[in-house]
Amino acid sequence: MKIAVAGKGGVGKTTVAGTLARLLGQDGLSILAVDADPSSTLWSALGISSEVAKNIVPLTENDELLKERMEISGAGSYKEVFKLNPQVDDLSQKFAVEGPDNISLLVAGTVEMGGSGCMCPSATLLKALMRFLVLGSDEAFVMDMDAGVENLGRGTTTGMDALIVVAEPGRRSLNILSKIRQLAQDINVGRILAVGNKVDGPEDEAMIRERVEAEGIPMLGMVPLDESIKAADRKGMAPIDLDPNSPGIVAIRKIKTRLLEEFRE
Ligand SMILES: Nc1ncnc2c1ncn2[C@@H]1O[C@H](COP(=O)(O)OP(=O)(O)OP(=O)(O)O)[C@@H](O)[C@H]1O
Ligand SMILES: [Mg+2]
Repeated sequence: MKIAVAGKGGVGKTTVAGTLARLLGQDGLSILAVDADPSSTLWSALGISSEVAKNIVPLTENDELLKERMEISGAGSYKEVFKLNPQVDDLSQKFAVEGPDNISLLVAGTVEMGGSGCMCPSATLLKALMRFLVLGSDEAFVMDMDAGVENLGRGTTTGMDALIVVAEPGRRSLNILSKIRQLAQDINVGRILAVGNKVDGPEDEAMIRERVEAEGIPMLGMVPLDESIKAADRKGMAPIDLDPNSPGIVAIRKIKTRLLEEFRE
């Protein structure tokens, strides 16, 4: 199962991705969590300590690695001419750090924006990595993405089984749903699913449900506005470690069950 989590800035992508990864890990799956957001924060939602996190060099900022994997001997600078099929089979083993609940975290880092199809060494390395990832039945891949949908059309999500779009009550966040619909072919994922987050009462829930249904996107579930999730961020803890039974975590647990059902259907 390969899933990517996207949505507008601040809607709760990292919270949902990190908590889903922990819950799937607790179910006994081996999880490769990939942080594809330039301002990487997935480590904290996973419950990895800041001491460990601060030593991680994102793959796309690892010049030595890029040179080693992307350089074509004798062709000059790898930044201009580079391999299209770099070796990636060992990257997760070499660069991922261990987290709780069977999780390995790989920090991918920034992918430079460059029009619709970014042709740069770092993006090429990441895409090769995504293509390479073939998972066994006891493995899952969870990718936390940066805000917005601009990056979705560049092939980063190609080969994903599901794209989970997180939306909060509010027009700007919900407008992303129709953009995603328009981009659906470019995005090239198995299916698109929605999660409502920071839901404060039935009006919020109705607003999200209406838009999600109008776009014809299946709804995985709603996560309430949860003081404990906020507090976890203040304390620098994973929400699931602060209170595994807070209303928000209980809701994400149900979403995880729904997600597994989606894949069985
Ligand atoms: N259900 C919730 N209830 C209360 N607070 C929440 C909830 N979900 C997320 N938050 C809080 O909202 C803030 C943003 O969450 P998060 O970092 O997960 O969003 P994001 O979409 O990944 O943001 P970014 O676009 O910056 O990557 C955090 O402070 C988080 O603790
Ligand atoms: Mg985030």
